[in-house]
Amino acid sequence: MLVSARYVRSRPTGPVRRLVVTLRDTEARRRTERSHAELIATVAHELRSPLTSVKGFTATLLAKWERFTDDQKRLMLETVDADADRVTRLIAELLDISRIDSGRLEVRRQPVDIGAAVGRHIQAYVAAGQSADRFLLRVQQPLPDLWADPDKIDQVLSNLLENAVRHGEGTVTIDVTATASLREGEFAENAATSVTVSDEGPGIPEESMNRVFTRFWRGSKRGGTGLGLYIVKGIVEAHGGTITVGRAPGAGAEFRFTLPVSAPAYLA
Ligand SMILES: Nc1ncnc2c1ncn2[C@@H]1O[C@H](COP(=O)(O)OP(=O)(O)OP(=O)(O)O)[C@@H](O)[C@H]1O
Ligand SMILES: [Mg+2]
Repeated sequence: MLVSARYVRSRPTGPVRRLVVTLRDTEARRRTERSHAELIATVAHELRSPLTSVKGFTATLLAKWERFTDDQKRLMLETVDADADRVTRLIAELLDISRIDSGRLEVRRQPVDIGAAVGRHIQAYVAAGQSADRFLLRVQQPLPDLWADPDKIDQVLSNLLENAVRHGEGTVTIDVTATASLREGEFAENAATSVTVSDEGPGIPEESMNRVFTRFWRGSKRGGTGLGLYIVKGIVEAHGGTITVGRAPGAGAEFRFTLPVSAPAYLA
């Protein structure tokens, strides 16, 4: 609590006419300041480790260029290249987060064939060397026409599939289904599309489930920056949808997001 008192005089040296006492609760402000400070500290830390590596390899190459074989030099440059990609990706994620947090995330709606979109992501994994039977895609027919932002839906799918492949194990199953309503009562007349991504890995411990969608939370050493699911949730909610996490029927993690097929009037 901040307490301040002020004398009110009509002239600088005249008699005191009034005494104004102000009480202000500073807790809320201190809390936002603390979360900004934490955000900056985390971001600085995340940017520093790839940059330290870039600096280390470039400095070594410049100082001892003749002492390395072509293969060694190539390996170092590949690491530098990957670290530069990491920094670029991190910055793109931070920009998304700033748009999500300030409500400036734009959703440009077009008809989206979400089953085909999932299919393209699977093809990309297979082209990159994953075995095709790592994935099982089931698309219910018929599906209502979905109007959504295709780039953002791709971002959601790529994050969830990447998590299932990287943090999960076994077969990654993707179910696309039509659902009758989104949130109880609210858009009951609106049809919706649900996508469920499940895997057969260790899953998410019950006690961590409420934390997976917060920024920078990561469960294991295999984690990345811990921004993926925060952005996924922001994108789904910007579409007027919802996302939940649970345990897959066998084991493993199960993420399910539901999108209204068309924008509710106030989101359009
Ligand atoms: N399918 C999954 N199985 C097990 N754990 C998961 C799964 N998906 C996410 N997690 C856990 O949730 C954490 C947060 O996921 P999130 O996608 O937000 O971040 P990340 O994958 O660590 O990093 P980023 O997506 O920013 O590269 C992960 O670090 C991981 O521990
Ligand atoms: Mg992720």
